[in-house]
Amino acid sequence: MIGLEVKQRIEGFYQDINQRNALYLNARHGALTPRSVRHYLYNVRFLVQHTPVLLKLAQERAAAQEMIALAAYYEQKRYDEFGHDKWAEDGLDLLAPDSWRDDDDLAIAPELRHLLDFLRATISEAPVAYLAYIMLAEHLTVIGAPNLVRDLEQQCRIPATMMTVLTNHVELDKAHVDSGIAEMNALVDPDSEALIRRTLTQSMGFLERFLHAVGSVT
Ligand SMILES: [Fe+2]
Repeated sequence: MIGLEVKQRIEGFYQDINQRNALYLNARHGALTPRSVRHYLYNVRFLVQHTPVLLKLAQERAAAQEMIALAAYYEQKRYDEFGHDKWAEDGLDLLAPDSWRDDDDLAIAPELRHLLDFLRATISEAPVAYLAYIMLAEHLTVIGAPNLVRDLEQQCRIPATMMTVLTNHVELDKAHVDSGIAEMNALVDPDSEALIRRTLTQSMGFLERFLHAVGSVT
């Protein structure tokens, strides 16, 4: 079953990048500073702001190809995901009250723009492929974020209250991943399974490079 296979590959991916990605390593070694976390949250906010935009594109592309169930899935998800960027803003407000919005030091990582460009192109070509990225983003959050938040708090002295964009998503996405396996099995026909596997591999590369870039800022 493709859903379970994707979930298990994401678990292997996390085991792998947890050993070598700058974000996880620097958090574990106490090397992330308030400035690093400001950059991280600023970029995550930008990423999360794009979720409803990408879901709308996916819904439109699915509808145009008369994939009714897929279009309905993306539409529902767009409502579920709306406003989650506010959690990243709450963290930034706690970390740098009043100042982060005009902070010239903050910038969107080129690796994040590459990830978003990749997702837009993928969705435009084959909207079903976006399911692979959605499960990657959600399941990686569920399995990776609790350790990251713990390391930020214990090793880097960044309170978990600043990281609600992660902790709130852990709670929500646990349920999303469980239902997402069945939904992926229902929405992906056998002819599209190879596309899902390929998109998952590519998404892992883009996401890994983004996390490494934001985790390298000190
Ligand atoms: Fe979300």
